Amino acid sequence: MRKRIAVLASGSGSNLQAILEAIDSGEILDAEVVLVLSDRKEAYALERARLRNIQTKYLRVKDYAAREEFDRHAVCVLEEARTDLVVLAGYMRLITPLFLAAFEQRVLNIHPSLLPAFPGGHGVADALAYGVKVSGCTVHFVDEGMDTGPILLQEAVPVYDDDTAETLHERIRKLEHKLYPKAINLWVQGKIKLRGRRCVIDE
Ligand code: GRF
Repeated sequence: MRKRIAVLASGSGSNLQAILEAIDSGEILDAEVVLVLSDRKEAYALERARLRNIQTKYLRVKDYAAREEFDRHAVCVLEEARTDLVVLAGYMRLITPLFLAAFEQRVLNIHPSLLPAFPGGHGVADALAYGVKVSGCTVHFVDEGMDTGPILLQEAVPVYDDDTAETLHERIRKLEHKLYPKAINLWVQGKIKLRGRRCVIDE
């Protein structure tokens, strides 16, 4: 059975695009993106989905009194779309326990640093300001913390003396576009086993 993927994004959606292209090319097998959901109306990720006739959903944060209510509605939308896997791709909201309970071990995120270093919304700038010589990206399962879930894949890039947050982020993004499809395919093929915090890949 083809796995049904929902992508949650707040921004440009370049990772969404990479996932769609990886499905087109067969790098991700037996899966389709059935829904793109955003908390930002102007997120270009929504436009990318519309261009491919993929169902989109915008949920306006102001319409919900609490994070749980927002997530309760998001879960309904995801369940209606019969989502197997939730992929966060530049989604700028913390996921509540209620959401995680509905999609246990079925929510992935990508973060632009080598976790556990530099979690949060400014990972690239924080790494640069700290003066690291190597950074990278991390695909991980989502838990209740901020970028704290079990790590699935990581890869590194060099940091150069003349880097700005933008140039470093661009180098990391290129890597993300390869690493996220790879991780998603491993999940779809059922090759990931969780042993406590450790993800073991069964090749
Ligand atoms: C990526 O760098 C990702 O690691 C972070 O947000 C960024 C999203 O970029 N979580 P895009 O919207 O996929 O281009």
